[in-house]
Amino acid sequence: MKVLIHNSAELAQQAVADILSNRIAASPASVLGLATGGTMEAVYDRLILALSESGVPVEEVKTFNLDEYWGLAPDHPATYRSYMNSRLFGRAGFPVGRTFLPASDAADPVAESAAYEAKIRDAGGIDLQLLGIGQNGHIGFNEPTSSLASRTRLKTLTESTRMANQQYFDGQEATPKYAITMGIGTILDARDCLLLATGSNKADAVRKMIEGPLGAHCPASALQLHPKATVVLDAAAATDLT
Ligand code: F6R
Repeated sequence: MKVLIHNSAELAQQAVADILSNRIAASPASVLGLATGGTMEAVYDRLILALSESGVPVEEVKTFNLDEYWGLAPDHPATYRSYMNSRLFGRAGFPVGRTFLPASDAADPVAESAAYEAKIRDAGGIDLQLLGIGQNGHIGFNEPTSSLASRTRLKTLTESTRMANQQYFDGQEATPKYAITMGIGTILDARDCLLLATGSNKADAVRKMIEGPLGAHCPASALQLHPKATVVLDAAAATDLT
């Protein structure tokens, strides 16, 4: 695992945006795994700038998001589809037909999960998977005790994750209870993994991810098994590292 520590959150976000735009410039038909959440908002702003400044084309890129809430109407403003369309795809000109997320209104989430895995396989697998990390060590919506070999499936969200995400909804009652998420095994299949964590509230999870032990109680620790995982941190997220 390569760990890169930057002095500020801004420098860490810029480093991640640069890795993404350089990857697309080098391989315009890249298959990217993407993430949502507060951490990625500035990354996508910076990525849009980097792409437009260097004239990097995005028409051939394919994207697969890590996860999507389940049980929300597709036009609900808090779906991850809405987040991605408004924060990245629409603004940077990614063709929406080449961008994939699990359907938030899938009638059969088991079939939807299997179909999502098949779409990733048919695209040739994910070249670079972007990741954030939850305060409890989750990646995607793989909450603690998720199997390290898990594949895309419906997951019940923990109370702590629902509490962290209620800011995007009308209180915790209105916050979804379920999500469809890539599994940890699905994430580990990506040829490269790139995780960004900023802020002191991530320091404990970051220490457990990097310094172990490897185990299901910190799903992100599974990245210790990945041959090409890069973790980008700001100084605050790195404070608990020995
Ligand atoms: C989002 C995702 C989550 C977030 C994590 C951190 O697609 O997969 O694992 O990366 O919850 O979220 P923020 O960045 O809001 O702290």
